[in-house]
Amino acid sequence: MTASKRLFGSADGLWSGLHLAPGSAPGIALAPAAQAAIVVQQGMIQWIGKAAELPAQYAGLKRHEGSGALVTPGMVDCHTHLVYGGQRASEFALRLAGASYEDVAKAGGGIVSSVRATRAASEDELFASAAARLEVLLAEGVCAIEIKSGYGLALEHERKQLRVARRLGEAYGVTVRTTFLGAHALPPEYAGRQNGSSEYIDLVCQEMMPALAAEGLIDAVDVFCERIGFSLEETGRVFKAAQALKLPVKLHAEQLSDMGGSALAAGHGALSCDHIEHLSQAGIDAMRNSGTVAVLLPGAYYTLRDTQLPPIEALRAAGVPMAVSTDHNPGTSPCLSLLLMLNMACTLFRLTVPEALAGVTLHAARALGLQDTHGVIAVGLPANFVLWNVREAAELAYWLGGKPVRTVVRQGLIR
Ligand code: NIG
Ligand code: FE
Repeated sequence: MTASKRLFGSADGLWSGLHLAPGSAPGIALAPAAQAAIVVQQGMIQWIGKAAELPAQYAGLKRHEGSGALVTPGMVDCHTHLVYGGQRASEFALRLAGASYEDVAKAGGGIVSSVRATRAASEDELFASAAARLEVLLAEGVCAIEIKSGYGLALEHERKQLRVARRLGEAYGVTVRTTFLGAHALPPEYAGRQNGSSEYIDLVCQEMMPALAAEGLIDAVDVFCERIGFSLEETGRVFKAAQALKLPVKLHAEQLSDMGGSALAAGHGALSCDHIEHLSQAGIDAMRNSGTVAVLLPGAYYTLRDTQLPPIEALRAAGVPMAVSTDHNPGTSPCLSLLLMLNMACTLFRLTVPEALAGVTLHAARALGLQDTHGVIAVGLPANFVLWNVREAAELAYWLGGKPVRTVVRQGLIR
């Protein structure tokens, strides 16, 4: 895949002939058949409502004809590892032959093999490969994306990944939230040392995180809290260091086992706990109390042929907001389609269509702390919305491999 260049036009004007997907514009309830309109001025949403109630002052604006398109907020992909060197198709083959994700990791493959390839790549090489992947996500209507580090595992290489993430945001006019995931795996040079894990966590907390935060490269901090990742105690140390720097936290939690990470994260006011297949009721209660978002990652569940479903019914009963994301990464989720995740969230995890749609918009924005600017269509927000060639919202989750996007408006521009 290679990156390409395109020219864009302003989205300013009157967008007419639209149908508003349910839940897309808080406070605005239109009958399904009612036509909606959106007014964009200077890249911002100036007005949204029933077309029949359009204020006269906007009637003469340049018109963008929707021709009955369904409109949703711009999609938000709230958990990705988009920047890395190489790929890991060979592991896919190993798993097909019976190896588990943990087997592959213990045998020196897994995350550490992406670390080798990422360290070997230049910043420009990483930019080019990640840009090509980003373009695929953007073409499906993604308007905000989280990008984690965690394949460098040394200051200069984590910096390289995070710099690429920032550059992608600027080059593509897409909101990028960077997450420092220095505590993703034990770097090879620390493996086999007596206190290697603890020493590496010291490096993460005392050197890497403060330096990268000072360079403005970190929007949030994450840890892989797992048997093959870092312990609860080590996770707590990383969270403490993050809080000292006033950085919000999130967690790869309870993916392969119940480590109790979600309750710890919730206790630190985490933005989100992600994966959570093995989440306990105590974890759910803690997340509800702290307003932490549950990020569901059906692509990893599917790729690893997991059989442990996240506790969807209990999360729903507790009122914990559920987001849905690609978890794009070269190991457990080489997925470049948020729409496919919408389908899998419904088919595999039994979310309803409105829940899944809120999961890739409203709740995904909240998982990134972007709830004031993304995830809904509302007056005063930057114009981020998608016109779809479908008649009803359920079609967004229903078609497999369709290409339903008609037009993407991202940061006030038609893309
Ligand atoms: O979200 N679980 C840890 N991190 C990634 C996988 C990373 C990898 O295998 O490269 C995930 O699934
Ligand atoms: Fe992940």
